[in-house]
Amino acid sequence: MKLIIAGSTGFVATELIRQSLSNPLITSLIALGRKPSPPPNPSTLLPNADLSKLKSVVLDDFDCADYPDNVKSDLANADACIWTIAITPPQLTTVPWETTVRVCRDYAVNGVRIISSLTEKRPFRFVYISGTNAVRDPARKPLLLGEYCVLRGEAENKIIEFGRASGGRVEVAVAKPGIISGPTKETGVLAKVFFGVIGIGKVRVGQVAGALLEGVTGGFETETYENGDLVRVGSKTVGGVE
Ligand SMILES: NC(=O)c1ccc[n+]([C@@H]2O[C@H](COP(=O)([O-])OP(=O)(O)OC[C@H]3O[C@@H](n4cnc5c(N)ncnc54)[C@H](OP(=O)(O)O)[C@@H]3O)[C@@H](O)[C@H]2O)c1
Repeated sequence: MKLIIAGSTGFVATELIRQSLSNPLITSLIALGRKPSPPPNPSTLLPNADLSKLKSVVLDDFDCADYPDNVKSDLANADACIWTIAITPPQLTTVPWETTVRVCRDYAVNGVRIISSLTEKRPFRFVYISGTNAVRDPARKPLLLGEYCVLRGEAENKIIEFGRASGGRVEVAVAKPGIISGPTKETGVLAKVFFGVIGIGKVRVGQVAGALLEGVTGGFETETYENGDLVRVGSKTVGGVE
C-alpha cells in the first residue's frame, strides 16, 4: 500500500516513518512536508527497514486551495494518509492565532479533500492527529487552552463530517493522544505529576505510531482513538515499547 505521512519532519511523523520502513504492508511511503525530510538516522532503524520505498515530497505552502501538479502527481493513488501537521501548545505564543487556525484546521481539511480526490483506492483512509483535550462541542471549552481545544475539536468535526459524507469512499479516524513521550523526548517528572493531576494520560510515541499504522493498514478499530486506545493497540505492535 501507499501511505502519506503529512508533517514528516515532526516528532510523531519521524516514528511513523521509522516503523513504516519495516512494515511489509507499506510498499510506498511519501514523507510530505514544507521542507525536505531528513534521511532517517540509521542507528534508529528497525530490522528489515527498506529505505528504497521512502520519498520526500515538499509542498512549500500548504495554505492553498489546491496543490501544485508535481506534488499532486507524487501524492496520487495513495491508500492512506496520516496527518500530523499542527501548531502545538508550546508554539502558541510565537505563532499568530490566525496562522494557528489555518495550520491546525484548514490545512488538514484541504488535505483530506485534495489527497482523497487523487486516488481511486477504496476506502482511502485518513487519520487526523488531534489531542486528548480537544472538544467537539464549544460549550465544553476547557479552562486550560480553551480556544485552542475548541479549534482542534472543530477540525475533528470537519474531518469526520467529510468522511461520513463520502459514502464510504473515505474512512476517517481521529487520534486523541495525551502527552506523548519517546526516546528523543522524555517527559520530566514534574510535568508527569502535573499532567496526572489534571487528568491527561501518557502514551509512548511508538504506541501512537503502531496503533495508527495498524489502523491504516488493517482497518480502523474505531473512529476516535482515545489515549487509552492508542496505548492498548500500540502496545501490541513492534514499536510499542519505544
Ligand atoms: N507531542 C505531543 O506530546 C502531542 C500530544 C498530543 C497531541 N499531539 C499532536 O500530534 C500531532 C503531531 O505532534 P508532534 O509532536 O509530532 O508535532 P511537531 O513535532 O511540532 O511536528 C509538527 C509538524 O507540523 C509541521 N508544521 C507546522 N507548521 C506548519 C506549517 N505552517 N506548514 C506546514 N507544516 C507545518 C512541522 O513542520 P516543520 O518541521 O517544517 O516546522 C512538523 O512537521 C499534532 O497534531 C499534535 O497536536 C502531540
